[in-house]
Amino acid sequence: MAKTKFHFIDDYRNLVNDLIQAHPLHQAMSMAVGGNFEAFGEIEKQLLIGYGLQPEHTIIDIGCGSGRLAKSLMSHLTTGCFLGTDVVQALLDYAKQDCPSSWQFQLVEEIRIPYATNCADYCTFFSVFTHLLHEESYCYLLEARRTVKKGGLIIFSFLEYPYNWEIFEATVNNILMGKPNVHLNTFISRAAIECWVQHLGLSIVAIHAATAPFINLPQPVLLDGGQKIEGMVALGQSVAVLKVN
Ligand SMILES: C[S@@+](CC[C@H](N)C(=O)[O-])C[C@H]1O[C@@H](n2cnc3c(N)ncnc32)[C@H](O)[C@@H]1O
Repeated sequence: MAKTKFHFIDDYRNLVNDLIQAHPLHQAMSMAVGGNFEAFGEIEKQLLIGYGLQPEHTIIDIGCGSGRLAKSLMSHLTTGCFLGTDVVQALLDYAKQDCPSSWQFQLVEEIRIPYATNCADYCTFFSVFTHLLHEESYCYLLEARRTVKKGGLIIFSFLEYPYNWEIFEATVNNILMGKPNVHLNTFISRAAIECWVQHLGLSIVAIHAATAPFINLPQPVLLDGGQKIEGMVALGQSVAVLKVN
């Protein structure tokens, strides 16, 4: 029988339902996007500011989850526009709390960006291509190229060897123990990104290794374990910055 749903819908809806059953809401909403809610929101925001994000810009955040980036952007994106999309309604409901009423949070069930052509300054995918097939990520890049203006940026984080070996190893161990994974963990090579970019007619502005400290934190931030980080920091996933020509 033909499948009627993309894999990522059940993957993420089941994960979020399980977390909501097992934890207080704020904790579940943070765990659903990888934890360190405030700290990583700030790091993602400073990464974008480092790449020129201005208060009046329009940003589309695909796979916005529970709003880690949206909530930290409230202090910076004061006159601009924000669209966040996700496949899980519970995450979007949490994300939109306290955000400006003009900001949009939209449920998607396919690889689609519900936004007009040539209108956005930025389209971001933080830890989203990490859970999609390469072909699905490429389809999202086609959509991002459509929605982002000429000169605008498409920024995505990705798992890369050898930096994210522990995630590969954890997935291998789950398989060895007969445990299915809750969602895909996909690695992307720079060769794949170069090939995609060539076919898409985009330019590579930069590719930062997961361990490269290229994000400037003007204020220290606290990780969930209480550890303080400050100054130039790395994201922990590699980051590709692409320009629409
Ligand atoms: C690891 S979380 C990261 C969330 C957010 N980008 C952040 O950095 O806080 C991945 C998110 O992508 C969402 N997601 C997974 N597949 C998706 C798809 N095809 N389209 C949009 N969102 C998707 C998940 O529901 C989840 O919220």
